[in-house]
Amino acid sequence: MNVDKRPVVFIILATLTILAGTLFTTFIPLFMGTTTPSVEKVIPYKPLEVEGRDIYIREGCNNCHTQTVRPLPFETARYGPPSKIEESAIDRPHLWGSRRTGPDLARVGAKYPAAWHYLHLKDPRSMYRDSNMPAYAWLNERKLDTSYTEKKMRVLGYPYATEDMQALTGKTEMDALVAYLTRLGKELK
Ligand code: HEC
Repeated sequence: MNVDKRPVVFIILATLTILAGTLFTTFIPLFMGTTTPSVEKVIPYKPLEVEGRDIYIREGCNNCHTQTVRPLPFETARYGPPSKIEESAIDRPHLWGSRRTGPDLARVGAKYPAAWHYLHLKDPRSMYRDSNMPAYAWLNERKLDTSYTEKKMRVLGYPYATEDMQALTGKTEMDALVAYLTRLGKELK
């Protein structure tokens, strides 16, 4: 049978083929375990870290820093194993970024203690003489605005205790940012 000469049969066969392709590529992956991050393993953000993350976004740190390690030898040698989807499962929005003027920060939490970040943020040149990262000393003079913290925690669905909220009192914007930076890469149990 020559399908080319039978338009009705041809249309039906073509429709079935395209339909099968569409079903396979769009619906099947939805039910595949590997594309569904298991959120149970993820440690949710504390209120101070949520505020720090928002300051990171506000200051545009993600314009110079990525937060994803690609599965390429020269990256894994420098930053550690490739990022897993679970690691950004609760990030809204994710901060994978696309431009690296500075290094990737996905795992920076285990690299430096908090004290290092304070010194580096105040004056990046004190740590790396030729750094072109801007200084953020003024963040330490600004008191953290906590008027929306509780609302953010609820909307984003992170559980929190009263002590976590109390930990916000008297904190500066830099305290929050450093709390966020020192937890990066520690999101999995
Ligand atoms: C203009 C681009 C630029 C911006 C904006 C920027 N950085 Fe950087 N950052 C760099 C560069 C370049 C380096 C590498 C040199 C250094 O450590 O200072 C760096 C290094 C770092 C490091 C050390 C990483 C490591 O593995 O050693 C951290 C942490 C960091 N930046 C955090 C931040 C945060 C937080 C912000 C936003 C408040 C920010 N950066 C904004 C360019 C930038």
